[in-house]
Amino acid sequence: MRPPKPPSRPDRVSLWRYGRLFRKDILSAQPARLYRAWMAEFRTPFFRSFLINQPELLQIVLRERPDDFPKSNRISEGLRPLLGNSVFLSNHETWKRQRRIIDPAFEGGRLRDTFPAMQAAAEAAAARLRQSGQEPVDIEPLASHMAADVIFRTLFSIPIEHETAAQVYRLFRDYQRSQPILNLAAFVPMPRWMPRFFSRRTRQTAKEIRALITDLTSARMAQIEAGTAPDDLATKIMTAADPETGDRFSTEEMVDQVAIFFLAGHETSASALAWALYLLAVSPDWQERVAAEAQDWGEGTFSQMSQLRLSRDVFREALRLYPPVPMMVREAQCTEQFRNREVPKGAQIVMSPWHLHRHERLWDRPDDFDPDRWHTDNGRSCQRSAYTPFSAGARVCPGAGFAMVEGPLLLSTLLRDVRVEPVLDREPVPVAHLTVRAKDGIWLRVSRRQD
Ligand code: HEM
Repeated sequence: MRPPKPPSRPDRVSLWRYGRLFRKDILSAQPARLYRAWMAEFRTPFFRSFLINQPELLQIVLRERPDDFPKSNRISEGLRPLLGNSVFLSNHETWKRQRRIIDPAFEGGRLRDTFPAMQAAAEAAAARLRQSGQEPVDIEPLASHMAADVIFRTLFSIPIEHETAAQVYRLFRDYQRSQPILNLAAFVPMPRWMPRFFSRRTRQTAKEIRALITDLTSARMAQIEAGTAPDDLATKIMTAADPETGDRFSTEEMVDQVAIFFLAGHETSASALAWALYLLAVSPDWQERVAAEAQDWGEGTFSQMSQLRLSRDVFREALRLYPPVPMMVREAQCTEQFRNREVPKGAQIVMSPWHLHRHERLWDRPDDFDPDRWHTDNGRSCQRSAYTPFSAGARVCPGAGFAMVEGPLLLSTLLRDVRVEPVLDREPVPVAHLTVRAKDGIWLRVSRRQD
């Protein structure tokens, strides 16, 4: 089965046309040759960008010398009012300290503690979906709602129906509408000195979100001090000491981190879940197999998660075909030689899971949906060298383990109870917003399973 792929642009277009295409959609603005190239250069009047697909180059940038390729500030502009100095945007020593405090909360053993909250969110999501009527539904906003519920329950032990949670969720949606977050500055030919303006609305929304998150974190700090805090992710992170210096996050620093957990943790998972459901809607045989596996599993435990093998293979394949974070950008700190070409200091290095995951010289039948591929030699080898939905190396997504429990669990719990079918003439067209979404939503018909 070959699921939707956006059309590519002609090989040569003017810079002006490129800029315009870009603003419309980052995926269809690219030429088809990027699905075959090891490296491609883009020149703009003010800087140069290099897209790299060759596994050896990715290895250098992500794993071997990450300090020489810090996150590019060009990309973070749109997020700054909301995320302040969060781990997603910071670099160098600040970033290292933040990761030392955050990472332990997401380690395997700790995920076990988080599992019941995740499972409660999955059951609540399945109960809501069972109520769907005859009419087709856009599954994207429903998936966002489910993933946001997972984050609130695991982070602060509150469901999405909680007043503050519901308000934060609504404001985040407003923020994204007012400020298209995926800043394309790495390609868009704007000089760095050009000021970036945020609308009053964007700033105001960011302020409101941060005020609500401050309420949550201050209340939590008080509970921690009183010894009455629940043992959730927020408590784990706020009580964790930096193993090198012994200090902890202040309430203010925690606000930055909570904002990114919420944003990075729900938009991404929601995107992958929505695409996974679509892929199963158009592959009824796979859907039946996942449903059968789910019914056998019932309400399993954390230790039994490994039994959801089909669900995991499908979720992994959804992350390959529709990587929620389609591109990542770094900046070369000094002049480099890549493939015998000079990459000047300050160049933007673009890594594109979108292209890498569909690379024609690496993957067998790259555009096909085939969850069995993970058990073939080609699939296994590509998983190691050409599969980066969570990035890799020091800056790898700290939520990767969490997401790989959450995704298969939600998928399986939902399909245990409902069947999904595609809607005629409503094939989704992938576009990159903050994450890879469908241009006009992902419409599915949902019916309750009787068996
Ligand atoms: C399917 C779900 C997810 C996907 C595909 C995903 C993907 C990614 C990717 C690709 C990055 C690196 C971005 C870059 O280098 O520019 C990243 C970073 C990050 N993610 Fe995730 N993520 C997911 C879920 C989560 C969850 C559940 C959380 C937390 C609860 C989370 C928290 C973060 C944070 C804090 C960072 C910044 C790390 C750093 O820069 O050091 N993510 N994620």
